[in-house]
Amino acid sequence: AFACSVNVALDLTVTIYSNGLLYISHQIKTLVNSLIKGVYPASPSSWLFVAIGILATMYMQSDPSMGLITKIQQHLPLHMSLSAQGQTMVSALVFSTLLWLSLILALRFCLKLLLSYHQWMFEKHGRMSNTTKVWVPLVRLLSSRKPLLYSYQSSLPHLPVPAIQDTVSRYLESVRPLLTDPEFKRMSDLANEFESNLGNRLQRYLKLKALWATNYVSDWWEEYVYLRSRGPIMVNSNYYGMDFLYVTPTSVQAARAGNTITALLLYRRKVNREELKPVRLRVPGTVIPLCAAQCERMFNTTRTPGVETDVLQHWLDSEFVAVYHRGRYFRLWVYRAGRLLSPREIEDQIQRILDDASPPLPGEEKLGALTAGDRIPWAQMRKQYFSSGVNKRSLDIIERAAFFVTLDDEEQGMRGDDPEGNLDRYAKSLLHGKCYDRWFDKSFSVVIYKNGKSGLNAEHSWADAPTVAHLWEYTLATDAFQLGYTEDGHCKGDVEPSLPQPQRLVWNIPAEVQAQVSSSLAVAQALADDVDCHVFPFREFGKGRIKKCRVSPDAFIQISLQLAYYRDRGGFCLTYEASMTRLFREGRTETVRSCSNESCAFITALESGETEEECRRLFQLASERHQNLYRMAMTGAGIDRHLFCLYVVSKYLGVESPFLKEVLSEPWRLSTSQTPVQQMNLFDLKNHPDFISLGGGFGPVADDGYGVSYIIVGEDMVNFHVSSKYSCSQTVSNVSVSWSSETSHTVVGNHIYTRQYSQEKTQGN
Ligand SMILES: *[C@@H]1O[C@H](CO)[C@@H](O)[C@H](O)[C@H]1NC(C)=O
Ligand SMILES: *[C@@H]1O[C@H](CO)[C@@H](O)[C@H](O)[C@H]1NC(C)=O
Ligand SMILES: *[C@@H]1O[C@H](CO)[C@@H](O)[C@H](O)[C@H]1NC(C)=O
Ligand SMILES: *[C@@H]1O[C@H](CO)[C@@H](O)[C@H](O)[C@H]1NC(C)=O
Repeated sequence: AFACSVNVALDLTVTIYSNGLLYISHQIKTLVNSLIKGVYPASPSSWLFVAIGILATMYMQSDPSMGLITKIQQHLPLHMSLSAQGQTMVSALVFSTLLWLSLILALRFCLKLLLSYHQWMFEKHGRMSNTTKVWVPLVRLLSSRKPLLYSYQSSLPHLPVPAIQDTVSRYLESVRPLLTDPEFKRMSDLANEFESNLGNRLQRYLKLKALWATNYVSDWWEEYVYLRSRGPIMVNSNYYGMDFLYVTPTSVQAARAGNTITALLLYRRKVNREELKPVRLRVPGTVIPLCAAQCERMFNTTRTPGVETDVLQHWLDSEFVAVYHRGRYFRLWVYRAGRLLSPREIEDQIQRILDDASPPLPGEEKLGALTAGDRIPWAQMRKQYFSSGVNKRSLDIIERAAFFVTLDDEEQGMRGDDPEGNLDRYAKSLLHGKCYDRWFDKSFSVVIYKNGKSGLNAEHSWADAPTVAHLWEYTLATDAFQLGYTEDGHCKGDVEPSLPQPQRLVWNIPAEVQAQVSSSLAVAQALADDVDCHVFPFREFGKGRIKKCRVSPDAFIQISLQLAYYRDRGGFCLTYEASMTRLFREGRTETVRSCSNESCAFITALESGETEEECRRLFQLASERHQNLYRMAMTGAGIDRHLFCLYVVSKYLGVESPFLKEVLSEPWRLSTSQTPVQQMNLFDLKNHPDFISLGGGFGPVADDGYGVSYIIVGEDMVNFHVSSKYSCSQTVSNVSVSWSSETSHTVVGNHIYTRQYSQEKTQGN
């Protein structure tokens, strides 16, 4: 017994000691990182050059500081301890440091100025303006060193507030094709009235805010669009990401979980150490950084419900994940004495959970439904029944976990007798599952299915889809190509035999909570049952062919979607395309109103059988117009975020604006988003052409509209995710998709994807 306790004591000492060492080395690393970041775009070693330069000039009997060094010397309290020469030396070093710091500030200011220049984006390939030609090497000069994740943050420009006349005229232009002449006249009058009266006043307040805020939109956007929304976040706000389309790297559920969790934790480590490269846009000759602030709340984060507003909570440490399986919750430690468990160890731990046959505690199984229903009841329940005792402890573990993992009982993916229908069910499963088996408040929940398929469900308030897509791309690639599996489909890595069991969470759920769980579940279930999802890979052609026609792939797809909508519904609609404003600090998204005068002109011409030449010309115009709208949105000259902020100001001031009220309540019947592919280098489509990502999707935005998300994969494929509501008799998501060579011939020489009326639909209508 004595030997045993000595062993334990020794073990403990070693643990504490190695933890201490780890802690110290972590602190040093953090310090070094903040030093490197703090002096960006210079490097810490450049201080030496400045100091040596100053000392060298002094040695040559000239004073580079024009008397400052002598001044510093007089004020330094060094008279006693140092010789005159030593004093001069120290003063010179102090001067060098000051000089170096001001140089850094100046450099940073210059970089910020340079990054505020966006004209390059509007210039055609190979026809750079002289300004851009000068600008490119300057940017390269100031930002060439290997940056850390957050290095650029303090050099990013602030999002400018557009002039109110510009926004209003852009708005009117965007609704012109959707309104009849009298409607447009009415809207113009409203808009002009707003512009000349209330608008100016609101704009003054907004400009004031822009002076002190890092970003004049983002805090309000996060609060009013996401956190204050009181309805369910499931389906309405959360979105999903899918696994590979054709392959599942292993069919062993626990193994897939082992590698996936490991890959996510490796990504987290890269974020924490700032080793992740900041995402940058390629410009001929240089690269332009995008804001990385959205990475900060990726892990250790949850959204907690409140009666008036939810809040995002983030923890600085979290060494475990929360796992849900068959109605039970577990805590799984992923570190042991400061060491990340090997994939195989995590697999074994997950297998222990899968093998655990104990039944759920009373009320435990469907508890997650609280996060899927309305927010206010959840906030009340949480406050009353989860703020002390075992319930608090268990809820804390879920909320403070690095992220949430669901081990699902179902099999999903493109498989079986009905691969297409199964793909749709897979999407629905990721979007809402059974409404209680994902923790919708967590920044993201990973789902691992019984057949090894995976996916994720992400909460929307902390970041936008490109950030999550970046994480998910890394996870898929690391899982399949870096970590890999043994021949029999298990994870690799050593196993320490004495790992503690995953910890079952303990609950004491009273009847009141169970009643609320039932009613939240009813609300969520109704919402989920109404979602009509359709996911399909479009394989006829892709980016390669579109580019050969000298058209931007995104413009091409956007116009195609409008054509599809036109054929489906017989008209045009206000169309939302998400673009990002991360060229600016803490930028999030901006709306591209992609239904334009020009795109409508093209579609009308095409549908009324105009000549091929005319259609071709109009198509070119429409796609150029689209690209222009997209670039304006990216460079801070959008419409919707500015109007949204003016609306918030009007609410603060307690004034009504009929114009803003009308603008903000117009429904987006076609809401679209492209998922960008950002790390193609991680995938090897030459040798593994099957490892194609399916991208992700989101629920319908308007009750009678469509949500469409697409991802352009490789050269020959586009994956679409379409959603709508069954309760709307005018929308159907799963109509078969095809393109006919007949259409493509009359269109523009290239092919356009069209949605055709389904049998049922034409009969139904
Ligand atoms: C750009 O520079 C070239 C020569 O370097 C000059 O010929 C041309 O006029 C300049 N263009 C403009 C718009 O200033
Ligand atoms: C999350 O928790 C981990 C593990 O304790 C910690 O190392 C990390 O700094 C936290 N991440 C963030 C972004 O705070
Ligand atoms: C939009 O199209 C209409 C009809 O084709 C045309 O009269 C109008 O001038 C166009 N507006 C703009 C801003 O291009
Ligand atoms: C479309 O979905 C409905 C309802 O889920 C289903 O009955 C029908 O077979 C589907 N049609 C096609 C073409 O997949």
